[in-house]
Amino acid sequence: MAPGQLRKNFFDFFEKREHQIVPFSSLIPDDPSVLFTTAGMQQFKLYYLGLADAFKTVHPALGRAIGSQRATSIQKCLRTSDIDEVGDETHLTFFEMLGHFSFGPRGKDEPDDFGVGGYFKKASIYWGYEFIKEVLGLKIDYVSIFGGEDNLLTDEESEKFWQEIKKKKGENFEIKKFGKKDNFWGPAGESGPCGPNTEIYVKGVEIWNAVFNQYEQKKDGSLVLLKNPGVDMGAGFERILAVLKGTTDVYQTDVFKPILDILPDFNLRDRRIIADHLKASVFLIAEGILPSNLERGYVLRRLLRRAILKIKRFDLDDEIYHQLISRIIEIYKDVYPEINHQEVILNVINEEKIKFFSTLNKGLKQIEKLKTINGKLAFDIFQSFGFPLELIIEETKNYFSLTDEQKKKITEEFEEELKKHKEISRAGAEKKFGGHGLILNTGEIKAASQEEIQKVIRLHTATHLLQQALRDVLGNEVEQRGSDITVERTRFDFSFSRKMTVEEIKKAEDIVNQKIKEDLPINFQEMSESEAEKTGALYFFKAKYPGIVKVYYIGSSLASAYSKEFCAGPHVKHTGEIGKFKILKEEAVALGIRRIRAKVE
Ligand code: ALA
Repeated sequence: MAPGQLRKNFFDFFEKREHQIVPFSSLIPDDPSVLFTTAGMQQFKLYYLGLADAFKTVHPALGRAIGSQRATSIQKCLRTSDIDEVGDETHLTFFEMLGHFSFGPRGKDEPDDFGVGGYFKKASIYWGYEFIKEVLGLKIDYVSIFGGEDNLLTDEESEKFWQEIKKKKGENFEIKKFGKKDNFWGPAGESGPCGPNTEIYVKGVEIWNAVFNQYEQKKDGSLVLLKNPGVDMGAGFERILAVLKGTTDVYQTDVFKPILDILPDFNLRDRRIIADHLKASVFLIAEGILPSNLERGYVLRRLLRRAILKIKRFDLDDEIYHQLISRIIEIYKDVYPEINHQEVILNVINEEKIKFFSTLNKGLKQIEKLKTINGKLAFDIFQSFGFPLELIIEETKNYFSLTDEQKKKITEEFEEELKKHKEISRAGAEKKFGGHGLILNTGEIKAASQEEIQKVIRLHTATHLLQQALRDVLGNEVEQRGSDITVERTRFDFSFSRKMTVEEIKKAEDIVNQKIKEDLPINFQEMSESEAEKTGALYFFKAKYPGIVKVYYIGSSLASAYSKEFCAGPHVKHTGEIGKFKILKEEAVALGIRRIRAKVE
């Protein structure tokens, strides 16, 4: 079955049962306790907890209330927890999850209840069976239910409904019972809805997981009964596509095979890892994430560098990146148009490749010399040569072997070192900036000399002036698309449909220099995000800003300011400190996106 057909069949089935189709949410959730969206239920967490109302709360993507206590979505997800298993037939970092959800008060909970009220175990178990067996025509191997553990009881209700189905439909699959590890799911993040689940297995692969959210897990680990238990079903899209093809290998499906086909037939595991990691990287870059040594940026760096090293080992020339990325975009662009920025994505990958290659051989030599490895040694190699931990462990395999126990210990020690290092950098940066921290758009805290730091700050304020000057000259079509500041220069990406003329470049440069000459003061005000929006301040990735934002303005008051932007700072106190501003280059980065490099003297 083609991927598009599976999407359609799934939505048709649940739409017919009064589920509202809800668009997928970003890979970067609002929930600060998690780095990425790891499941379809992430965007519905508040509905389960009774903090959002399906009939009243405006859903951001729909622009209105959901209007049913039943929702369905196909969610892009990213999980790094299985990264070591990527390369086998079924584990992925980026994947899609088919989902159907019920929240709020329960209605009849019957499979023939086609209303908008909530349902629970009976309807969802019957619908799972009907969809898998009757719509997709798959043969169920066995199902599993929660068999009880600690003070949590066996899920007898689920068992009863599966028994009923077996009898009615003449099925003879087994109903297996497992403990918490296998059949109790959640929460996603530190706290939230969770409960016993039931899973459906086809060809020995778990393809359907209906979680019955009966509890809220608090931060201290305690479970509190939810007022309205709900349903959160998640099914692996790629796995279903695979079993529909008669295989258990997700890499044989139409969302992977065309990518693998580009890579020479050397080593299947490595080809799978390259395809998985590059696909995940494309989706991360499309969300505005850039490689760095912190949090999300670090995840991207790890994925990219592992793929880059494997591609290098295949001895392929750079053209391969172009082919792979355009194939990934081709597969997904109709469903996820946000990834349709080939040039930007290739640029990010290329820059990361250059950075990594500058230390690659030295790093490999260092690893070759090792007789043993521990977390501290691995951290030193990471610091000096930019090798992420899993890459170091993977490379040491050529020289000596490690048990799982040893790997776990190394990982723990490495993370401990990483944490220590971050604390030191943060403390250093805070001392220098009186609490602001020099957090630039790359998300990295850089250890730099006072002079370098001051230079970057001057460039940062100049970049604000530049954005406004570009809008003055070219109009409001100009919106920030990216920015990167180093000691040497600022790089500013913005939306604009054509090349700038020499006159326009000169005009923008003159405006910035004029504002520098006026020696305008720079200040900020803190306010709620909605107030900030009302001031007309510009913002880049809105979703990244917390509820309270700082609006930096250049001018004597917020109302009369020349430039206003949501920003974390830091900035110079007066524009006169910037010095002379010069545009070095204006060029295209992608269709409709231009890039300016500029310096200050
Ligand atoms: N939220 C459940 C999962 O991720 C369905 O498997």
